[in-house]
Amino acid sequence: MKVAFTSDNIAGASDSVWQAMMEASHGDAMPYGNDDTTAEVTTMLSALFECDVDVFLVSTGTAANVLSISAMTPPWGSVLCHTESHLLKDESTAPEFYTGGARFVGIDGAHAKIDPALLKKHVNQKVGDVHSCQPSAVSVSQVTEVGSIYSLEELRTITRVSKEAGLSVHMDGARFANALLSLGCTPAEMTWKAGVDILSFGATKNGTMASEAIVVFNKKLSKELGFRRKRGGHLHSKMRLLSSQMKAYLTDDLWRKNAEHANAMMVLLQAGLVTIPSVKINTLAQANMLFCTLPEGMADHLLAEGFAFYGGRWDEGVIRLVTSFRTPREGVEAFVECARHFAATRFEG
Ligand SMILES: Cc1ncc(COP(=O)(O)O)c(C=O)c1O
Repeated sequence: MKVAFTSDNIAGASDSVWQAMMEASHGDAMPYGNDDTTAEVTTMLSALFECDVDVFLVSTGTAANVLSISAMTPPWGSVLCHTESHLLKDESTAPEFYTGGARFVGIDGAHAKIDPALLKKHVNQKVGDVHSCQPSAVSVSQVTEVGSIYSLEELRTITRVSKEAGLSVHMDGARFANALLSLGCTPAEMTWKAGVDILSFGATKNGTMASEAIVVFNKKLSKELGFRRKRGGHLHSKMRLLSSQMKAYLTDDLWRKNAEHANAMMVLLQAGLVTIPSVKINTLAQANMLFCTLPEGMADHLLAEGFAFYGGRWDEGVIRLVTSFRTPREGVEAFVECARHFAATRFEG
């Protein structure tokens, strides 16, 4: 069985999400988020996070990230994020556009996690100097862009360094559920209890069609967001269709079940690949994304056999494999078998 590991957004939406949208589309409802379902989503997210949150639904992860951050920085501010972050590498100039020109500064750190010592240097740089941009916010990705995860202690260290310097903290949780299940903690522990001010609560990669929530814990930052969302073109008039997706995602633990499956498929995939000596695991996958280096010819062989994944964008032989809520177990097994067979005949035979 052939399967694609290109991304977790190659999968469609969960059936109950579609069903909920269909039901929500019957009858009339007040527009622009003044409907019952949108209010219910805020209540559900407040329950999930064990605190009274403000919620702004948008339809892309990029919008969730850049709108969140635009509420944290003036145009003359700088936003500190990892060098490999989606914000820096994959959101075109939306971050500059939405923040009115704030500067996004890449901070290094192993496994795409911000190094707190380097961060410390940056948060205090030229503060008060009118000639320099002023450190204003920090953004962390959880899961990171290479499939690693910040431990709670690591998160707290980042937020402590940020808060000591008066900076707000944003979390890009495009794969929030995958990270949470891997850490085995509560949503509250991985966010506001660890010092996160605003979370991009991703859902599209894990079961919705197009619905992401900006979840605001530090309500001082909420004031602008409503205006900024409208100005940025993300105040959907038929908001209930976004809300119905999010409601279905939060109902009966769909978010949890979907992420559990995706993570379990990655455990299986990684467990198979580590047993092939010529395959090098670059960063141990902690959730549903894995970067590894394949021996010469293996990637082409797997592609020719009908499997799909991204490669050719990084160092020689490096590929990215992502599992989703729909990745079939037999597909994972077939992939590992195909890689093993290739390695055995070419390298280890
Ligand atoms: C780490 C991360 N953040 C945010 C996003 C959201 O991006 P999009 O605007 O494509 O929904 C993605 C999607 O690839 C991602 O991987």
